[in-house]
Amino acid sequence: MAQRVLTTRPMLPGGGLDRLGAAVDLVRPPGPGKPAPETLHELAAGVDGILCLGNDSVDAALLDAAGPSLKVVSLASMGFDGVDQQAAADRGIVITHTPGVLAETTADLAFGLLLMARRRLGTARDSLLGGEWQAFDMGGHLGLDVYGATLGIIGYGAIGQAVARRGKGFGMRVLHHSRSTAPDGTGDIAPDENGSVAVDLPTLLAESDIISLHVPLSPATRNLIGAAELRAMKPTATLVNTARGGVVDEDALLEALDAGTLHSAGLDVFAREPMGPEPTALARHPRVVPLPHIGSATESTRAHMVDLAADNILDVLGGNPARTAIPGSSPVPRKDPA
Ligand code: DGY
Repeated sequence: MAQRVLTTRPMLPGGGLDRLGAAVDLVRPPGPGKPAPETLHELAAGVDGILCLGNDSVDAALLDAAGPSLKVVSLASMGFDGVDQQAAADRGIVITHTPGVLAETTADLAFGLLLMARRRLGTARDSLLGGEWQAFDMGGHLGLDVYGATLGIIGYGAIGQAVARRGKGFGMRVLHHSRSTAPDGTGDIAPDENGSVAVDLPTLLAESDIISLHVPLSPATRNLIGAAELRAMKPTATLVNTARGGVVDEDALLEALDAGTLHSAGLDVFAREPMGPEPTALARHPRVVPLPHIGSATESTRAHMVDLAADNILDVLGGNPARTAIPGSSPVPRKDPA
């Protein structure tokens, strides 16, 4: 019998889904948007694999709805905070994601946000479109320099490193902090191959003009940037978040912006997504550049993500190890084939 794979969206960018559909029986949900959990549970019954997105909830209920035939859940996303990893491990199911293929594109967006926030490009554009451009104004739309500023990167995987390389190109002093590249205390402050220097978090917070977040959301990183961290930043600093909304305490961020103790923020991600017709006060703040979670949204990158997600399913269902299992997941199913 042919293997069956559920895709949680009927259509996705690129040719990955069609390629997958040529190799397995593809089960597609009826509508274009995110299906209700009950619909997904019904469609999942008896499938061998699930291809889903980062904002789908991969919980025990979905895994159990699929049943013992399920061997692999493949996310077309880098982030996997919507996955109950313990439930997957308990059931011997491989979880995969799409690291690498979206790093440069997401780094581009982080730079777009920091340029917009620092140079106040959104408000300048709005003022032109609002008919307010009556004269050249030496004192109007004044932002802060990006060239020569200190860029602090928190989280130093592929995306963080791609941001560092862009910072170097802008003549910035680049610092980074991550668990794996913490300074060793030897006083060695030579920049790495991306032109960035590893520092501890207090140093990064105190010295950076722009702070860009690139950590996954986990219990350890939830509210990593809270009131204390915001207080430790320069009042002229810009915070950029293309990681996950939950990494920042949004109430504390709004307070800092209101109080003028932080210059600006560029935010592609929020605690509440999607926002629908009522954007939050934080998203509407004049010193915030808000975007609707589009870090990896280019035609080729989204196609590469779907391709890699399809390949991971084909690997596992073909009896091979997944090429990009999430950290902590076995690349092969830990059970007898059903
Ligand atoms: C990712 O890949 O994690 C993006 O945020 C889209 O989910």
